[in-house]
Amino acid sequence: MRSAVVVGAQGVIGRYIVEKLAALPDWQVTGLSRRKGIDGPRVKHISVDMLDPADAKAKLAGLADVTHIFFTAFQPGSGPAADFAKNITANLGLLVNSVSTLDKASSKLERVVLVTGTKYYGSHLGAFKTPAREDDPRHAGANYYFDQIDWLTAFQKSKRWSWTELRPQTLCGFAPGTAMSIVSVIAVYAAIRKELSLPLAFPGKAWSSLYQVTESAHLADAAYWAATEPRCANQAYNITNGDYFRWRHVWPKMAAVFDMPVAEPQPHALVEFMADKAPLWDAMVKKHGLKPYSFKDVVAWPFGDYVFNCDWDVMTSVTKSRQHGFHAVADSEEMFGRLLARFRAEKIVP
Ligand SMILES: NC(=O)c1ccc[n+]([C@@H]2O[C@H](COP(=O)([O-])OP(=O)(O)OC[C@H]3O[C@@H](n4cnc5c(N)ncnc54)[C@H](OP(=O)(O)O)[C@@H]3O)[C@@H](O)[C@H]2O)c1
Repeated sequence: MRSAVVVGAQGVIGRYIVEKLAALPDWQVTGLSRRKGIDGPRVKHISVDMLDPADAKAKLAGLADVTHIFFTAFQPGSGPAADFAKNITANLGLLVNSVSTLDKASSKLERVVLVTGTKYYGSHLGAFKTPAREDDPRHAGANYYFDQIDWLTAFQKSKRWSWTELRPQTLCGFAPGTAMSIVSVIAVYAAIRKELSLPLAFPGKAWSSLYQVTESAHLADAAYWAATEPRCANQAYNITNGDYFRWRHVWPKMAAVFDMPVAEPQPHALVEFMADKAPLWDAMVKKHGLKPYSFKDVVAWPFGDYVFNCDWDVMTSVTKSRQHGFHAVADSEEMFGRLLARFRAEKIVP
């Protein structure tokens, strides 16, 4: 048996890695987060604050058989989502406490998979060289990814295990209540516009720019590959669906999921538009019998404002992952339709 610890197991990435590994016959999975998850036949969740070293030590010291760590924990910080990359103290602390505690607990560790992202290239700051390749230089200025990678690389030097870094872009999954979840943003935005009898107008400036995303299930497949493929030792890989799109072409298909007409783009700040919509949301939850997510928990609007206003091309190259053996792709247009339909079917939105 292989024994995985997924740090950040309730997130838009972590919960999919847990699901992927738990479906395999030869993996045991331990999920870590402050919230407690639902245990299954090969899954156990531990509620732990990984920014509290004493709590981490007390609850993880017994994990003596851990072979793989999947690090997907994250804390956003306040303010615009483009500034989340500057939240260094918390995000470095999460990685350091997780890896050093588990490294001490288990002598069987083989690989640490660290999930970072396309912001490595400065994709959140403005136009950058596209398609970005893994060996492109880092952007200027603060980014916790740099601190995480540098610490992990240095810490691993005297160890028998190896690391792999994965750089996805805008995760798409079913994870209502997470800070950076674009499908939640689109689903709730569409539902509220529909309730107000407004057409579905794209709310940002990025209408015509080239964009890319990573489906969470696809990233989970990549994480499994990265954890088990010898060639991935001490390597970084861009991981996206493998296709590119413009919002102007996929937006009508999203509107169709909600049976809504499309309007011309109307760039406006979602954070401001949504500021007074909590009472409307509460009424919608009652009227349509939705799952009882509070407005503040169902979606984080700063992330929508960030994604919909990247009016420059966002493209990374996935050639290296293909050359090293990861050949899967996902169809972004089909994916958006499927995930948005799931938000309706599971009664997160009407
Ligand atoms: N989401 C995206 O679109 C996207 C795109 C590219 C790259 N990335 C990168 O992927 C990484 C993971 O992000 P994500 O979007 O998957 O995050 P997320 O959905 O917000 O999940 C974060 C996870 O970390 C856990 N966590 C936070 N603080 C913790 C603590 N003190 N102790 C234990 N667990 C803690 C959270 O659970 P609790 O709150 O219950 O503790 C949650 O399970 C980040 O570095 C991010 O930059 C994300």
